[in-house]
Amino acid sequence: MSRSGPGKAAEELTETTHLQEEGTEAPGRWRISAAPDGEANSAQPARGVTAPWDSTYYLSLATVLDSQRPRDRPLSEASPSNEPSSSEDLGAIPAREVEHLRSETPGCAHRIHLNNAGAALQPRAVTDAVRAHLDLEERIGGYEAADDRAAAIEAAYHDVAALVGARRENIAFAVSATVAFSQALSSVPFRPGDRIVTTRNDYASNQIMYLSLEARMGVEVIRASDSPSGGVDVRALEGIVHRKAPRLVAMSHVPTNSGLVQDAKAVGEICRKKGVLFLLDACQSVGQMPVDVATLGCDFLAATSRKFLRGPRGAGFLYVSDRVLDEPLEPLFPDLRGADWIDDDVYQPAPDASRFETWETSPAALLGMGEAAACARRVGLDRIERRTRSLASLLRELLQALPGVRVLDRGDELCAIVTLTAEGHEPRALVGRLREVGVNTSASELESGLLDFRDKGVTAALRLSPHYYNREDEVEHAVQAIDAILGNRAPPSAAG
Ligand SMILES: Cc1ncc(COP(=O)(O)O)c(C=O)c1O
Repeated sequence: MSRSGPGKAAEELTETTHLQEEGTEAPGRWRISAAPDGEANSAQPARGVTAPWDSTYYLSLATVLDSQRPRDRPLSEASPSNEPSSSEDLGAIPAREVEHLRSETPGCAHRIHLNNAGAALQPRAVTDAVRAHLDLEERIGGYEAADDRAAAIEAAYHDVAALVGARRENIAFAVSATVAFSQALSSVPFRPGDRIVTTRNDYASNQIMYLSLEARMGVEVIRASDSPSGGVDVRALEGIVHRKAPRLVAMSHVPTNSGLVQDAKAVGEICRKKGVLFLLDACQSVGQMPVDVATLGCDFLAATSRKFLRGPRGAGFLYVSDRVLDEPLEPLFPDLRGADWIDDDVYQPAPDASRFETWETSPAALLGMGEAAACARRVGLDRIERRTRSLASLLRELLQALPGVRVLDRGDELCAIVTLTAEGHEPRALVGRLREVGVNTSASELESGLLDFRDKGVTAALRLSPHYYNREDEVEHAVQAIDAILGNRAPPSAAG
């Protein structure tokens, strides 16, 4: 796996900056381009980046949308320019460095990607790590490649562990956050009448698993109420833990369907004080903000690779605390990776978190996830948090000014997931329209945030989730594109 130290990064930065000064790789004005097949329309920089297709027309997005915007308040005084926008104030990472990070992210040349809560654009180093391993498998065989790259695979575990402040022994690889979460949940020795305390903002799949346990095992599911400002009311949860002595507290740090950041640290403190197991779904927070398992006081932490962490799909991980390993808890169905069959009727669980792994795995995905973790740490999680939150605040501010748009995010602490409804427009349809002009977003349907959406009186939401490699002008363009769609303007016509 390629790793570049700070010295290398600095060298590369200088190199890219130089290129920009020569105008060969300057971030361009975004234009709408229609792909020849009429399907995969994309936004791309006007100059400096070669389109992979033979575009039939280009149209300046800014020009089209600006002309259609009946605004009493300009979205931005500055139109997008060929200069990197000044992002220094707006969030911790200097504009030149943002450009450098973008140059390491090939997808930035093709899309305004505001779907990092779905799956982020991967840095080139990540796809290189995955490809290199697949190439090796092709050349020498899958098992042999894994043996050959054993040290790099170990290093990937270490990188993931470091990302969440854990030791390597406490990290299990999983194919997804959901699988990591279910492995953890299955290890809790529930008895009929046991209680799980959760929140109203927990991920749908997790809620379904609790309900399945309720139906099958007679486990009671209790949801703590929300505070008036949004997110779990920590005092209410503490009261429930005190009165009901649950077997497990489980919650999502950041839900899939809003920008809320739940106070996981306070919940962790309650669990530690009461000696209750704490399972945290950190799927949306890992890679987007500093996440430290000791600070959070969790026994399990489940996360995925493809979202804000910017790793490949088909990968995730589970942090398992020493408390859990010592207890000892083990998943309901350990396999021969998680345990050894040592006598006719005896098996022995692995001493470390590999107890929660399955034998078959994807070393390529693990290597990619390790590289993504290393990349995130190189950029700095504090800086990533500040910049992504600034971009999200800008997004909310601009969206709120659009007639008919309702921004839905609530809570004392908000992160880089922005959700909204637009009067008369189905979120799913908006996703399609935006994708046609090269802006990637996603829709959260009622089933993915049932309780929260009902509380908000909506049935679905459009979700925009910027990352640190997004630029302010991309955010502005996305808002302008939404504005144009809401105004039901005619689609841009061909231009020379
Ligand atoms: C909060 C949360 N938890 C869990 C998941 C599931 O992640 P995965 O698809 O990797 O299982 C998601 C996916 O959107 C999520 O947003």
